[in-house]
Amino acid sequence: MKKFSMIALIILMSFIFIFSRCKQGEASTPELAIDSTQTQAMLPAYGGFENQVEWGKHIVTIGGCNDCHTPKKMGPNGPEDNLDLALSGHPSQMPDISINRKEIESKGLMVAGGSFTSFVGPWGVSYAANLTSDSTAGIGNWTEDQFILAVRKGKYGGVSGGRNILPPMPWPNVGQMTDDELKAVYAYLESTKPIHNIVPQPQPPVMAMKK
Ligand code: HEC
Repeated sequence: MKKFSMIALIILMSFIFIFSRCKQGEASTPELAIDSTQTQAMLPAYGGFENQVEWGKHIVTIGGCNDCHTPKKMGPNGPEDNLDLALSGHPSQMPDISINRKEIESKGLMVAGGSFTSFVGPWGVSYAANLTSDSTAGIGNWTEDQFILAVRKGKYGGVSGGRNILPPMPWPNVGQMTDDELKAVYAYLESTKPIHNIVPQPQPPVMAMKK
């Protein structure tokens, strides 16, 4: 009889223990749910901008993409962005900088062209890409995934087997944007005025060519 009541007591204690754990679980779940809802509500959608495109435009502006991707024109204080050609890359008709490339390469220097869209350095010559929505000269036909691959992994054309994007495109930094930020940048670029400027292909280093 004594043995029986001992067993009953152990079973009862176990029930009380399990039941109390369950109650704790129940109590904590709704609290967590409330917390995450509050956090979501507090987060401004699109970084506080009206829509995804406006947010992307803001990131492109403060991210300095125009510095290299928009040709310059002379203003009262020197070169300024030529907004008629915004983000259209190195102008196809612009002559190359006349410079001793061998000297630049051997000294590890970098020289930028007057429009700040072409760059000479140890990698050869690179030309800032056309980022407008033009379907052939720009990135109008690109998918969001292609864009993210290009800036995250530095792959030209957003193609995984493609060549590496050359300096001075700062993709190791630009690629650190969050997915949402990159998607907003993509959405903005796809909304830009298409400019049909076919950017020249890069040139290999002259020193490497002589080897
Ligand atoms: C310091 C100059 C510089 C800045 C700043 C810059 N880029 Fe670039 N970018 C380049 C150059 C030069 C290339 C072309 C390199 C090549 O041909 O390999 C390029 C290429 C790209 C490409 C690849 C295009 C293609 O057809 O594959 C993308 C996408 C791009 N840039 C996006 C951006 C965005 C977005 C920003 C701003 C957040 C930005 N870049 C800022 C210089 C720059």
